[in-house]
Amino acid sequence: MTAIAVLGSTNMDLVAYVARAPGRGETVTGREFRTVPGGKGANQAVAAARAGGEVVMIGAVGTDEYGSLLRANLEHAGVDTDLLHTVAGPSGTAHIVVDDEGSNAIVVVPGANATVTALGPGEHAAIAAAGLLLLQLELPPAVVREGARAARTRGVRTILTPSPVQPLPAGLLDAVDLLVPNEHEAAALSGYGDPHAAAEILLRQVPEVVITLGAKGCLYAARGGEAIVFPAPEVTAVDTTGAGDTFVGTLAVALAEGRAVPEALAWASSAAALCVQRPGASTSMPYRSEIDAA
Ligand code: RIB
Repeated sequence: MTAIAVLGSTNMDLVAYVARAPGRGETVTGREFRTVPGGKGANQAVAAARAGGEVVMIGAVGTDEYGSLLRANLEHAGVDTDLLHTVAGPSGTAHIVVDDEGSNAIVVVPGANATVTALGPGEHAAIAAAGLLLLQLELPPAVVREGARAARTRGVRTILTPSPVQPLPAGLLDAVDLLVPNEHEAAALSGYGDPHAAAEILLRQVPEVVITLGAKGCLYAARGGEAIVFPAPEVTAVDTTGAGDTFVGTLAVALAEGRAVPEALAWASSAAALCVQRPGASTSMPYRSEIDAA
């Protein structure tokens, strides 16, 4: 099966579960605290590996205790960590509040992720050898663009999750094949709140887009075709953290296996639906057998 390279972040998620998130200046009492491996890049890597992909992770962790735990978590999932560098200083952390509806609010402190500013020969070789490159925006934007361009030069398909949403460096989208924003990110990037209108605008810059719509499913559109909405399985969410990453990691495996887009999206939606029914990010990602059964 085609290898999937992930150029992205690795964070330790420090998660407080609370009835409702505090407002500005307010203190509320939480119900539970968990420390869970996360980071959008690492989450996508774990999701892809659990779904059966051969995955290599490119990024950095710190020399703190979190760094070795984050590396071990990836390795336990079967992800190749030879290009996950250990750099002096703290690992990335994400400070997360999850409320009783399963919704979250996240503050990310980049730590070691911020040191990934350029790619070396090993990283370029890994991208060139992959069939797919997964990118997000928790590494410095210039290195995300470098990775996307390297992939484009070598004919490697690129999938970008534009999260956390921010102004994109010039030329990045030129090297993206499939853009997977959620509806808020799609609105921020396109200026249109309606996903159909947003997709139309985004297709001026990338050939394919999937806008994830949470419980409403996802919208897929490709240049020259009609937009299609695929529904999501109906489930009760306890924690949506990492659901988008699960969707992308699983989608990547399906596409790498050559599955048609509708089948790939249905499979990825099933995986995301399983993820939201469990707490935590990488801990909640389903294995291939569970996705097939769902
Ligand atoms: O997408 C979810 C992830 O965002 C969390 O795991 C957290 O680390 C933040 O990066």
